[in-house]
Amino acid sequence: MGKHIILIGLMGAGKTTVGKMLAKSFECPFYDSDHEIEKKTGVSIPHIFEVEGEEGFRKRESQIIEELCLLPAPVILATGGGAVIKPENRVLMQQYGTVIYLRATVHDLWLRTRNDRNRPLLQQGNARQTLEKLYRQRSPMYEATAHHVVNTGSAPANHIVRTIEDIISAQTSSE
Ligand code: S3P
Repeated sequence: MGKHIILIGLMGAGKTTVGKMLAKSFECPFYDSDHEIEKKTGVSIPHIFEVEGEEGFRKRESQIIEELCLLPAPVILATGGGAVIKPENRVLMQQYGTVIYLRATVHDLWLRTRNDRNRPLLQQGNARQTLEKLYRQRSPMYEATAHHVVNTGSAPANHIVRTIEDIISAQTSSE
């Protein structure tokens, strides 16, 4: 495995779950950009949104993405759903990683996030409509940034992990 493996996709796509399993499989460190932000600031993501607004959070997110992309040894990186919004993040991720878009339907995303209280964007109004809107806005960015798209459907996480392992080994053998 040469570069980092970077997982992108909407909230609830399974980036963290799949990322942790990939890290075990490839025996390399796992990082979650949201978790790193929380570790660095000592406060939760909802708290950062409350105090600094989304723009404040996005600045911190870009900084962490840059730091993690620049790590010298390969890692598995699960990003927050909005990591593709800023063009500079997209460029960094594409340059330093094999970027994989975990694509799920709005319905599956909604099922997996509806009881969650840790995602500020889904706490106001109708969460399902918000997910639909984010899906429309961000799908083109996820697709343009990703080197590979993996449809998660209702497949269990270990199937998704196997698909990604196959992608990476095909890539490594063609290098
Ligand atoms: C966000 C996704 C969240 C987190 C923040 C904003 C987004 O990460 O970064 O709440 O804009 O889609 P997950 O995708 O890990 O839930």
